[in-house]
Amino acid sequence: MHSTGSRWWPTLAYVLVVGVTLQMHNSGIVYAADDQSNSDAATTGTTTTTTTTTTTTTTPDWMPYVEGASNDAPPPTQKSKLCTNCTCNADTGTFDCTSKPLGPKTFPPEAWKSLNGTGFVAKRVLLVSTGLQHVTSFPAMNVTLLDLSHNEIATIETRCFINLTLLEVLDLSHNRLTTEALTPDIFDGHYSPYVYEPMEKLRVLRLGANQLHSLNPDLFEHLPALQELSLELNAFKVIDHQSEVAIAGISSLVSLDLSYMELEAIPKYLLHTPRGLRYLNLTGNLLREVPDALAYGTGITWLSLDENPIPSIVLGSDFPVLKNLTFLSLSYMTELKVIGRGAFRGLESLEEIHITNNPHLSYLHGQAFVRNDTDNPDRFDWPPVKRFYLHNNNISYLDAQLLVQWDTMEVVDIRVNPWACDCTNRWLLLTLLPIIERTTPAILNNLECSSPPQMAGQSMVDLEHKHTRMRCPDGAGNNPANDGALLMGLLIGVLIAIPFTAAVWCVYRRGCFGLFGRSNKSAYSRAFYSRTTLNEEF
Ligand SMILES: *[C@@H]1O[C@H](CO)[C@@H](O)[C@H](O)[C@H]1NC(C)=O
Ligand SMILES: *[C@@H]1O[C@H](CO)[C@@H](O)[C@H](O)[C@H]1NC(C)=O
Ligand SMILES: *[C@@H]1O[C@H](CO)[C@@H](O)[C@H](O)[C@H]1NC(C)=O
Ligand SMILES: *[C@@H]1O[C@H](CO)[C@@H](O)[C@H](O)[C@H]1NC(C)=O
Ligand SMILES: *[C@@H]1O[C@H](CO)[C@@H](O)[C@H](O)[C@H]1NC(C)=O
Ligand SMILES: *[C@@H]1O[C@H](CO)[C@@H](O)[C@H](O)[C@H]1NC(C)=O
Ligand SMILES: *[C@@H]1O[C@H](CO)[C@@H](O)[C@H](O)[C@H]1NC(C)=O
Ligand SMILES: *[C@@H]1O[C@H](CO)[C@@H](O)[C@H](O)[C@H]1NC(C)=O
Repeated sequence: MHSTGSRWWPTLAYVLVVGVTLQMHNSGIVYAADDQSNSDAATTGTTTTTTTTTTTTTTPDWMPYVEGASNDAPPPTQKSKLCTNCTCNADTGTFDCTSKPLGPKTFPPEAWKSLNGTGFVAKRVLLVSTGLQHVTSFPAMNVTLLDLSHNEIATIETRCFINLTLLEVLDLSHNRLTTEALTPDIFDGHYSPYVYEPMEKLRVLRLGANQLHSLNPDLFEHLPALQELSLELNAFKVIDHQSEVAIAGISSLVSLDLSYMELEAIPKYLLHTPRGLRYLNLTGNLLREVPDALAYGTGITWLSLDENPIPSIVLGSDFPVLKNLTFLSLSYMTELKVIGRGAFRGLESLEEIHITNNPHLSYLHGQAFVRNDTDNPDRFDWPPVKRFYLHNNNISYLDAQLLVQWDTMEVVDIRVNPWACDCTNRWLLLTLLPIIERTTPAILNNLECSSPPQMAGQSMVDLEHKHTRMRCPDGAGNNPANDGALLMGLLIGVLIAIPFTAAVWCVYRRGCFGLFGRSNKSAYSRAFYSRTTLNEEF
């Protein structure tokens, strides 16, 4: 194929002509060139002699798709033009066009076939940041992952993915899809006797950061295997009834990302049908309380409520019983002030909890995690928390009974809180700090006392090493650490009082006026003697 350069130009011109012809027949197709159409061109080519200008501007210069394409069938080793501009990694089966300007539409079937024809089996197709606006149907390919994210996609042809029967992951996030444009028939699959034209293998669908505000109620009817759905960064504000129908209908759902959707509430029965739901991401919404809907998501193991304006989590608005929840995150919650008694009592399997970066969280009740044993109400149970993140809050006191088995925890991160260094927190120095020091010494910095005033700014680790005893305020509410100063004052007072009293006594008993005012020698000596006499009297 050394003569490609010289043979290419006539072919290109020829192809452009064909392109215009086909465009006249079907305005939807802009690119139209492949080795098969070359044979048809004998008939169509003769009729077309008019404008080629519009075609030249919209047609990428990698036409035809196969280098040296001609009337001869391309040898199987031929290199597809798609692999010249984009990357074809044969080892991983990745066809990567990231950041290559592709024009407004995806490649036509002929282009994809040229890829297939060269023996390169594309399994992962990345058309990311390419400026695409419209997605056209794909021919049969062994693609399992198709990434169309970060484009300008506003429309997708119906039955677009029908011949990608092995497709498992479809990423359409960061595009311009609207509710109206996203119709169920886009996801049509081949006929099946069991499910309505299913895309049988599609597990992951990412629709984040589009212009969706609602979903077609039947949107997912062709996706019986859908496990992971993300809708983040679409300003829904409410999950209306038809969206609820769409989501609640995904019976195989495992992971649902509803973050940053400006949601003020979650419909009560949204999680009722997807029994297998494990991961629920509600980050960055406008929820003002722990949603009641969680009560139906009984199988949830991972939950994030980060960045929601929930002011308090107390009995009555506490977490419902989520027996399988192992991970919970309550961070960056600007309104959160109080976590009260029993807040987490329904979370008996909790292993990891993040309560961090809540600037107003000042109160974490000592019984937030504890619950009554179901068999024996006189006994208490705690969840088996192993990783406890509590940094960057406004918490001053930590109850030793908040959790149990501190000594076997993997992470206890209590940095950057205004700790009170008095007797209530004494166990922090005596028990908790040594544990942290042993397990995760890297997170011992920024542990400072903030009160009482005498202790403010002191490093708790230093206090621990100096075996400082953190003392209690006395009954009058005075602070313990004042005691030192009080004693010192008392001592000074006594020291001053002794000679003063002595002087008064002396004046009263002996009239030692000579001690004061007069400066002659005899007065001094008299005073001296008087003092000795005084001493003798003790
Ligand atoms: C394709 O690659 C060639 C050479 O690498 C370059 O000149 C051309 O501009 C590229 N075309 C597109 C559409 O990116
Ligand atoms: C998909 O496959 C069907 C036959 O199975 C075929 O008729 C159709 O043209 C194919 N679609 C594309 C875009 O290749
Ligand atoms: C692409 O190759 C696969 C397997 O090699 C084959 O099943 C499929 O039909 C081919 N598609 C086209 C459009 O040639
Ligand atoms: C493509 O997928 C089909 C099944 O759909 C399979 O028979 C064929 O071997 C695959 N081709 C390659 C090259 O992996
Ligand atoms: C949850 O959502 C936030 C925001 O979209 C994201 O950063 C985070 O990775 C998500 N977590 C999971 C496990 O999906
Ligand atoms: C909770 O987890 C257990 C063990 O993994 C499992 O058997 C059970 O079905 C789960 N519960 C729910 C409601 O999914
Ligand atoms: C932190 O808590 C103290 C009381 O413990 C309170 O006076 C202060 O206003 C709180 N700070 C913030 C930012 O909420
Ligand atoms: C737990 O048991 C105590 C009595 O032992 C009872 O006062 C309390 O109300 C119980 N709490 C709950 C949440 O059942």
